[in-house]
This record gives sequence, structure tokens and C-alpha cells, in this order.
Amino acid sequence: NYQPTPEDRFSFGLWTVGWRGHNTFGEAVRPALDPVDVVWKLSELGAYGITFHDDDLIPPGSSPAERDAVIKRFTEALEASGLTVPMVTTNLFSHPVFRDGGFTSNSRDVRRYALRKVMRNIDLAAELGARTYVCWGGMDGAEYEPGKNDAAALDRLREAFNLLCEYVRTKGYNLRFAIEPKPNEPRGDVLLPTIGHAIAFINELEHPEMVGLNPEVGHEQMAGLSFTHGVAQALWHGKLFHIDLNGQRGVKYDQDLRFGAGDVRDAFFLVNLLESSGYDGPRHFDFKTPRTENVDGVWEAARNCMRNYLILKEKAAAFRADPEVRAAMEASRVFELEQPTLGEGETLEDLLAEDIDLEAVAQRGYHFERLDQLALDHLLGVR
Ligand code: GCO
Ligand code: MN
Ligand code: MN
Ligand code: MN
Repeated sequence: NYQPTPEDRFSFGLWTVGWRGHNTFGEAVRPALDPVDVVWKLSELGAYGITFHDDDLIPPGSSPAERDAVIKRFTEALEASGLTVPMVTTNLFSHPVFRDGGFTSNSRDVRRYALRKVMRNIDLAAELGARTYVCWGGMDGAEYEPGKNDAAALDRLREAFNLLCEYVRTKGYNLRFAIEPKPNEPRGDVLLPTIGHAIAFINELEHPEMVGLNPEVGHEQMAGLSFTHGVAQALWHGKLFHIDLNGQRGVKYDQDLRFGAGDVRDAFFLVNLLESSGYDGPRHFDFKTPRTENVDGVWEAARNCMRNYLILKEKAAAFRADPEVRAAMEASRVFELEQPTLGEGETLEDLLAEDIDLEAVAQRGYHFERLDQLALDHLLGVR
């Protein structure tokens, strides 16, 4: 009956179910939720984790005593409910001070404040046992070409990650960073717009092993890219540290629909990939329920994020176990790609000496149509 359990490792951002529905054109339509109520509700629904930005939990401007009281109350709810905090992140975008970004603001005092804000919250993340610290730099970007020196912005971004890694190492925390790429929104063009840009950037850091990715379904799709292919490459680099699951329909604003809405084909192949890859991190939902819905619609959506994942997991497992699928994959030479192109013991001389019957091999069809329809039949529930 697709009832999630903590073993499924589903987690939700406090800001996701807590989103009140304000957007560029409209005001908030839903009441603020108490984080403690969210903890209880998520655990009741079968999630195992809750994540948050510093400001989601601790109202900005709180005194140290107020901050402590909030954390104490939240921690008690976590302990009582059994919910964990696998990931924590920082809000480096809401306050007007971040209007030109956090780590890459042109203003040096803002960059220094951003680093302090992250370091303080890293202490809390470590205290709560989080293993991943997400950095989404949506406000780090530009609308005007001459107003941002891209090379300097990348220098400052590298400096920020090097300093934060140093902080974690000095403190001895068991915490890794996960960069979340996004092509645009809120900035016209965001720095590190895709998975590929972020992977290349990580290779320039002092401690690349401490930094990976938190890719989001909709963000790659906003750039017109296949999310499944992007995740496959992140996995190949050993960089899938965390994942934001949601739904998006095409190249447009960030829709943050519940998981399973939007491109359901990509969702099917994504779950198939995650479930067969050995990825054992959280399945984290970063969605925003459309503002047509009341709070009951928010919980309906949260429940269905998990339900859709479990349905797709079942369908993908049946797809992989289907002998006809296996035969179709053989016919499509899918397994032949796993063979090294140069055989063991062979030399480049051997390769040079070989010939191919171009006429004959050029006639070869790959039968992907049949294979893909088998997948679609599984997805549509007729196999
Ligand atoms: C977005 C982003 C954010 C980040 C979050 C974590 O859609 O704008 O996905 O929701 O995931 O800020 O840092
Ligand atoms: Mn998004
Ligand atoms: Mn996200
Ligand atoms: Mn989002």
C-alpha cells in the first residue's frame, strides 16, 4: 500500500511543507507552521528526516536565549518522535543584505557576514548529527554582465568553500558539503548553473573529497537537461552526496511540484538509477505546494511525494527483473558497452591492424524502440 517507513530514508525541508504560498504576484495564503508540529506530522507520515535553513527554525533577530529555547524545544520533539536531521543548510538569500549574493556578493562585508552565518549554523548542524551541509547559491549570480567579474566570483566561491572545509576540519565535524546547482531564479543567471559546472568547480578546491552535489530534479530540467543523465554523472564522479526530489514541467520558472508530478518518465528512470546504484543517502523532497491548496493539500502532497517514489521504485524493480527487458537489452547491445574497447593484453597495434566491415555494421539497428516501450509499459502499469 506504499506506506513509507524510516528505512526508505525520506526527508523533507522545513521550508517545503512550511511554504506559505507567497510569490512574485501574490501574498501568503497559508498560516506559518510550528516546526515542532511539522516534526510530528512528518514522522506520522513515515518520513525519517527533517532538514532546515537556519532561519526556518530560528527566527532571524532572535536573542541567544531565544535561539537556545527554540533549539531545545525542537531537539525534544526530534528525540520524542525519532525523526533525524540528516542535512542542514543556510538562508543566504532572503535578507536584503544578500541582494547581490552571499559568498560572491561584490561587497566584502556581506561575504564575511555570509561566512559567519554559515559557520554558526554548521555548529548547530554538527550538534544535531547532520552529515551533509547543503549550499545553494541561488542569489549568487547576475543580471548585468559588466557588474560581475565572473573569474573573481569563482575565486571568492572557491575561497568560501576552502574556508568552510577548514572550519569543519578544525572542529573535527563529520560533515560534508553538497553544492546545489540551479540555472536561474532568483538571479537572472546563477553561478554554477548545472551539475556539470559544479563538478568542474569542486575539482579546483583544496579538499574536493569534502564537497559533492545536491542536485535537484527541477533545476536541471529548467535548463532543458535530463536529470537522470546528470545524476548518473554525479554518481560516476562519486559526488552524489544528497538529492532534492520534486517535479517540473519543462523549461520555465522553478515549479517545485511534488515528486512524480511533471516529467514522470524522467522520475521513473531516476528512481530506477538511484535504486540500482547503491546510493544510500536521503531521498529528500524539496517541493512547494501550489498556493491553490490549504494546509491539508500540503500534507496530501508530502504524502504523495513518498507514495510516488515507492510506486516508481516498485515499477522500476519489475522493469529490471523482467526477462523480456533483459532480452531486449541484449538485443540493444546495452551490456556490450560495459566491455572495455581495448581488450586485456591487446595493444594499440592490434587495434590498428583490425578492420571493420563498414557496409555490414552500418546496417545495424539498435532496437531501442522495443526496449523503451517495455519501460513505458511497466511505467503505465500494463505489464
Ligand atoms: C530552490 C532551491 C532551494 C534550496 C534550499 C536549500 O528551489 O530555490 O532548491 O529550495 O534547495 O534553499 O539550500
Ligand atoms: Mn527548485
Ligand atoms: Mn532544492
Ligand atoms: Mn526549491
